Amino acid sequence: MIHFWLSITAAMVALLFWKWSRPGNFPPGPWALPIIGNFLQVDYRNPLPDLEKLAKKYGNIYSIFLGNKLIVVLNGFQCVKEALVTHANEFSDRPEDPVFLKMNNNKGIIIRPYGQHWKEQRRFALTLLRNFGLGKKSMENRILEEVNYLVKYFEDQNGCHFDPAPVITSAVSNIICSTLFAQRFDYHDNTFNKKLELISENGELLGGFWAELYNTVPILRGLPLPFQKIFRNNRDIRAFMKDIIDDHRKSLTPGEHRDFVDCYLEEIDKRKNDGSSFDEENLLTVMTELLGAGTDTTATTFRWALLLMMAYPIVQEKCYKEIKSIVNGKKFVSYEDRLMMPYTHAAVHEILRFANITPLSVPHATAKEVSFGGYTIPQNTRVMVNLNSVHREETQWKFPHEFNPANFLNDSGEFVKQDAFVPFSIGPRICLGENLARMEIFLFFTSLLKKYEFFWPEKSTAPNLTPIFSIAMSPYPFSVGLKSRINC
Ligand code: HEM
Ligand SMILES: *[C@@H]1O[C@H](CO)[C@@H](O)[C@H](O)[C@H]1NC(C)=O
Repeated sequence: MIHFWLSITAAMVALLFWKWSRPGNFPPGPWALPIIGNFLQVDYRNPLPDLEKLAKKYGNIYSIFLGNKLIVVLNGFQCVKEALVTHANEFSDRPEDPVFLKMNNNKGIIIRPYGQHWKEQRRFALTLLRNFGLGKKSMENRILEEVNYLVKYFEDQNGCHFDPAPVITSAVSNIICSTLFAQRFDYHDNTFNKKLELISENGELLGGFWAELYNTVPILRGLPLPFQKIFRNNRDIRAFMKDIIDDHRKSLTPGEHRDFVDCYLEEIDKRKNDGSSFDEENLLTVMTELLGAGTDTTATTFRWALLLMMAYPIVQEKCYKEIKSIVNGKKFVSYEDRLMMPYTHAAVHEILRFANITPLSVPHATAKEVSFGGYTIPQNTRVMVNLNSVHREETQWKFPHEFNPANFLNDSGEFVKQDAFVPFSIGPRICLGENLARMEIFLFFTSLLKKYEFFWPEKSTAPNLTPIFSIAMSPYPFSVGLKSRINC
């Protein structure tokens, strides 16, 4: 009898371990335990150091078990480029996570499977962002208009130390709102600020434990557990967007495009019967996604910019001198001025590299089986693109581990592009808002630096440059001190 139970137990243990083993010719990786996977080898609270160690041991292509999910991890510029650009058709899908499926019903752009409908939505959204100014003057004017409000807010602080995070988030979201539905919100508008909080809360929750539990354990999905908050927040934001769409429908004048929503509604009418993916549910999802993907990322980057300028006053001073010499007398900085400001342009790039805010990008998946680096990776495998490893790669950068604009300057002080600069990722899934984000960050940065000197207001501590690990890594909350340049 004992033998019987022993063999049953052994068989079950073997079965469990078999499920937590890798298919043939799969990228190698550490041994995994049933249920918890590589939890002991990879600290999920901040996996970056462990991922780096594993790359040293297994090479640039390896795999880990995140719980019961087997994930391929890609590291270093050559490998990432080879996958996302050379093998774009194989590596540009997204994993199908139940939590996103429930939120978006496979609509929108970000989480959408790699295929015709994704392409259609992405291309259309990109065209609209361009028509509402990218490449033309008006997006720039939109941003500069917002800069005026931002500067006014900073002036009103009147020399006090304050946490700049809320106002930066509001300013950044206003640029997207004004593009999407021709509206901006006062920085003190509590109803809208509440929406921004929900968006940012969902950003956190979606990368966290409860979302993962929802994905992994189907029988728990109906229970009143914290993941329901994700869906509640999402419904709330969508209801807000739905009202905006309905208002636009009512006041739509054919041929007159006030904003993104107007153009999209017209496209829906135009393509009603051609089997395309244009409908109001898609519009709703795209709006929610653009606001969600465009707000906290850009705002966080800009907070890093202020923190780094306080931590490196010499860099700040050099930027200021250059900005002043170029803008001298003009009321506004313009985006084109970046070409005449090699040092400042390099500093902005260095902020994006060093802050490295989306260190693991957005999860990818294989669209089909692929032979890669001598391994065979089956269809529907999750792929983690380690952008952090590219931004810290010792063969790519003069100063991989320190904040130094010289990473983007040559010996004669000219700006030089770097291939391994990938904060927006690369390939067909490259960030849709890259140009918008770059323009915003440059114009916010130069406009504020021109007017104020930022300094660290606390005598007893130094700026803390350790990031809080998350899908979008932010600095710890901080206050800024500012001195007006004009009065000094
Ligand atoms: C500094 C700011 C930003 C950073 C660092 C950033 C970074 C990223 C990254 C790493 C990805 C994933 C690319 C991939 O899967 O390989 C992404 C995707 C995306 N981003 Fe951004 N982003 C920023 C700002 C924005 C803005 C302002 C918008 C919208 C206006 C936006 C919209 C999107 C969208 C729609 C996608 C999904 C693209 C697709 O799946 O086809 N992002 N972003
Ligand atoms: C720096 O870059 C500029 C522009 O690309 C180039 O003309 C110049 O020769 C470079 N200088 C050095 C020292 O490499």
